[in-house]
Amino acid sequence: MVENMSGQTIKTEITAGPSKIIGAALPRIDGPLKTTGTAKYASDYHLPRMVYAVPVCSTIANGKIRSLDTAAAEKLPGVLVVLHHGNIGPLFRIAGHGRNSEDRPPFEDEVIYYWGQYVALAVAETFEQAQAAAAAVRVQYDAEKPNVSTVLNDELSAAPNTESKRGDTEAGFSGAPVQLDETYSTPAETHNPMEMHATVAVWDGKKFTLYESSQGVMNHLAVMAQVLGVPKENIQVISKFIGSGFGGKLFPWPHSALAAAASRRLNRPVKLTLSRKMMFSNVGHRPRTQQRMRLGATQEGKLLSLQQDYRNHTSLTDSIKENCGEATPFLYSVANLHVTSALVKRNVGTPTPMRGPGAVPGLFALESAMDELAIKLKMDPLELRLRNDTLIDEEKNKPFSSRHLKECYAVGAEKFGWSRRTPAVGSMRRGDVILGWGMAAASWGAGRSGCEASVTLKSDGTAYASCGTQDIGTGTYTVFAQVVSDRTGIPVSKIEVVLGDSSLKPGPISGGSTATATVLPAIVAAADDAIQSLLTIAVKAKGSPFFGKSTETLTMSDGRIHAKDQTAASGVAYEDVLKMAKVGYASGDGKTGGLGTDTKAHDYSTHSFGAQFVEVEWDPGIAKLRVSRAVCVIDGGRIINMKTATNQVAGAIVMGVGMGLLEQTVYDPRNGHPINDNFADYIVPTSADSPEIDVTFLDIPDPMMGVYGARGIGEIGLAGVAPAITAAVYHATGVRVRELPVRVEDLLTARV
Ligand code: MOS
Repeated sequence: MVENMSGQTIKTEITAGPSKIIGAALPRIDGPLKTTGTAKYASDYHLPRMVYAVPVCSTIANGKIRSLDTAAAEKLPGVLVVLHHGNIGPLFRIAGHGRNSEDRPPFEDEVIYYWGQYVALAVAETFEQAQAAAAAVRVQYDAEKPNVSTVLNDELSAAPNTESKRGDTEAGFSGAPVQLDETYSTPAETHNPMEMHATVAVWDGKKFTLYESSQGVMNHLAVMAQVLGVPKENIQVISKFIGSGFGGKLFPWPHSALAAAASRRLNRPVKLTLSRKMMFSNVGHRPRTQQRMRLGATQEGKLLSLQQDYRNHTSLTDSIKENCGEATPFLYSVANLHVTSALVKRNVGTPTPMRGPGAVPGLFALESAMDELAIKLKMDPLELRLRNDTLIDEEKNKPFSSRHLKECYAVGAEKFGWSRRTPAVGSMRRGDVILGWGMAAASWGAGRSGCEASVTLKSDGTAYASCGTQDIGTGTYTVFAQVVSDRTGIPVSKIEVVLGDSSLKPGPISGGSTATATVLPAIVAAADDAIQSLLTIAVKAKGSPFFGKSTETLTMSDGRIHAKDQTAASGVAYEDVLKMAKVGYASGDGKTGGLGTDTKAHDYSTHSFGAQFVEVEWDPGIAKLRVSRAVCVIDGGRIINMKTATNQVAGAIVMGVGMGLLEQTVYDPRNGHPINDNFADYIVPTSADSPEIDVTFLDIPDPMMGVYGARGIGEIGLAGVAPAITAAVYHATGVRVRELPVRVEDLLTARV
């Protein structure tokens, strides 16, 4: 049992106490494979008879293909086939299990919905030959003017949808003594993981093997089976290593189906790698958002009414909602609340989740509005948050399983030195630069889904764990090894972890900050099952020192089998027992359900929380702005690996600097071309842009998250960074930037 801050007692499932391996700052077990170039990413697979595919991308964003002439391309040396709408053969929409990125299969018709849309695929013996062939395909279009407008005030595809509602915001807002009514915008942002998307597709006459860069091998399998029209049994998806994805690799994109179709057509392995340029059109982006916020409050800073009316752009081919109201209904206590959403169609590729989808742009609006309200009230922005804190999720009318946001504020304020802040604009200096200090709250959902895993304890003293999930690069391999080690006492160096293969038992997507919380209970169950098998072998084998004993009296720790009431040292190494029994290994399986299947969890609202404190330096003499310092405190449940968790959050802070100051995908209004579709023009933060970063975890187990009480922390670190930056920019300059990213030209009207 644990008590939460309001004194409620919560029944807890947490059974694992402190441990030397859980929470340790352990280096990634796959680190050496990566630093030595041994780790194989999707495009690293080179197979006998393999050929190369290069897509042809549309050069208009709206219209139709009038003619597509492949004759010249097909005559070029090494060219095997040029696929297009007229000859691709059947590819299907998905109607069953699984989530695809685009509703529509590639080459479905001759309509062009966005710039860069695939119109043909050239396949040749070498990459260079395929590139030449793709360039030689002649496409003529009937083009119409595309709509890529960044102003989202126009036509809606449907009436605004109420996402959340309580009380009466009409009366609540109009009667409030202090009112704020402002609109905030966030731009389209493109996922730019280090590793670009790639597929190596192998058709053997009956089955497909797809080497992918995927955040979800099981879902990729389910989707591709439907798109390709083959039974699930005839596809295997492999993603051993992933150079990150940020959400862009959660769901399959058209290139995977194209590579597979080409492989089936030619009966040869096909490699299709996307260029960085294609990444800006064809594999998703965070959609542009426009959010009107209306806040009503008392003079004392008590929120009376909160309204959020947001819109996001989406593609012509799909209706993707960016869930900007994710955190709004439960972050603060407020009696009157209304959140609405609406979609605006644009000639852009289909949007997809990007780290903290919805909540991250949503919190930019909500937390910016809170900062502006604090300024109206002449109140410290941290004090305003404290006055409106809640331990009840007022939308669901349920307590939080674990909410320690106030501690995040307290720890963060202390580490940052917030009490030394002087509120007047431009009042803080360091040498020639003006300092701005800003803060914001962070929040992201905490979930776990169902999972199966296997653990094998082998007679050579090593162990093996496997699951059909994957490691996006954040440390999932390592977490598996830590848990097996925690349960058995076998050192991490002797534990092999096998992931990234859809033929393994089903595991979760690496997304939504749910993978760690999801796999932990399954690994524990599998490890405990393996230990049970081992103990059964130990009591049955003649010659075993435990022969004839009851398994009930035995346990395993430090890699040794021993009596429960005695130390590990008194026992026998488990591999010796297996050898005595002449048994090769003891294995176990674990299968666990998600939060939805846990009836206790139904009584609670589960979320992670955090506080962001940011310092900017503004040099008015040369109009230079940089983020100099960030203090981030995260309430993310029990932390399993302090090193990988800290890496995750520090990386998210850097991404937040990108969101705040640098990143935006710019679509040319004349033709819909994302004109900054390269690393020279789409600016992501480098080391030089990165602030000094201080990451702290409260490390308080969440009683609803199972054995260890761990929540995922992949996304929460980005939440709140951008509004803390714009709050700090206001504090330094007196300029309120409500449209991201902050540009130096926005600051030319700075008061100081
Ligand atoms: Mo994350 S946007 O769920 O990869």
